[in-house]
Amino acid sequence: MATNKKPYIKKQLQERLLEALETERAGIKIYEAALVCAINMNLRSEWGEYLKQTRSHEHVLLTVFEEMGLDPDTKNLCRDEVTRIGDSLVSIMLMAKANGTAETAQLVAGECVVLAETKNNQNWELIGHLAEHGKGQETNALKIAFRLVEQAEERHLYHTKSFVRELWVESFSFPAVLPPSVEMLRAS
Ligand SMILES: [Fe+2]
Repeated sequence: MATNKKPYIKKQLQERLLEALETERAGIKIYEAALVCAINMNLRSEWGEYLKQTRSHEHVLLTVFEEMGLDPDTKNLCRDEVTRIGDSLVSIMLMAKANGTAETAQLVAGECVVLAETKNNQNWELIGHLAEHGKGQETNALKIAFRLVEQAEERHLYHTKSFVRELWVESFSFPAVLPPSVEMLRAS
């Protein structure tokens, strides 16, 4: 069946890629702060792995910029907003660590990671959509990048959501499944 692929609006594509790059960079700082707050060993181990993957996703995006001949240091409003939100999340976590209990700081960090990964996931879903439905010399680079990060990005968001839900359950002294079972993670 013939598909109706559309050419990219180049300025719009560049802006979304800049925003995605800034989200990964903010994500690195967010995981570094979240690891200061994490006390559950399984969560520490997951976030440690996600920090490494986020660093690698920054490089995946830099490769896309290189292949498209775009400047990754171009300034724009959206990436500034992402930076400010990221810095705010880091401050919130560090304040919780300084002023709250260890358990509270960990929960606050979990909430901040879920917020950050929700935006990150949204960026990559859009990149995947553009790779599938767009046409132009950019398509191949977008497809390769999306394939490289797709599975890890889903894990970052949905595993952390499950973990945070169970940590909240535990905070009520209700029976919690920590770490979340494989079945719970699949159902997330
Ligand atoms: Fe991520």
